[in-house]
Amino acid sequence: MDRANLPYTDAVIHEVQRIGNIVPLSLPHSTNKNIQLGDYTVPKGVVIIPNLTSVLFDKREWETPYTFNPGHFLNEEGKECFSFTGKRVCLGENLARMEIFLFFTSFMQQFTFSMPAGMKPVLDYCFGITLKQRPYRLLLGFGELYYAGRAGEGHRSTGA
Ligand code: HEM
Repeated sequence: MDRANLPYTDAVIHEVQRIGNIVPLSLPHSTNKNIQLGDYTVPKGVVIIPNLTSVLFDKREWETPYTFNPGHFLNEEGKECFSFTGKRVCLGENLARMEIFLFFTSFMQQFTFSMPAGMKPVLDYCFGITLKQRPYRLLLGFGELYYAGRAGEGHRSTGA
């Protein structure tokens, strides 16, 4: 697989996931013993709800937290600089990385994506356990054919 040779593509995927912030409160955890966290003592049996938004948009960590910027995941040589670390790792990490890369690159190779004339991308979301994108219109080009619309109400046409 070419992923190792395509650090910018990987960086775009990571940046989409950062700015997408689709599970802002992660999953609840609880402490099974007293924990010292910096200046804080967290007692045993406490439910912890992490605030991932504070991490993903921390202005001390990201150059432009509210602007899409794949450079967040590239070093000076243009190489990827991101890895999962910590005691609790995601068991599906390799599978997820591979699948997302394959889907994303296949879509990019086969289709062109654009906004219908006069429309801007909708970055607003509905709040819930996950952040859900509000409905929006997108033009999906495949050769001369364009598919315009959103789930359930699109139509096919030739030309934008
Ligand atoms: C984009 C895709 C994915 C992302 C961003 C992701 C992210 C994460 C994160 C942040 C955790 C740690 C949660 C925590 O402890 O608070 C986690 C844990 C976990 N993930 Fe994923 N994950 C993804 C896909 C997958 C897939 C495809 C699988 C299974 C096939 C999977 C299986 C697991 C399991 C079993 C854990 C729990 C590990 C443990 O607590 O010991 N994940 N994931």
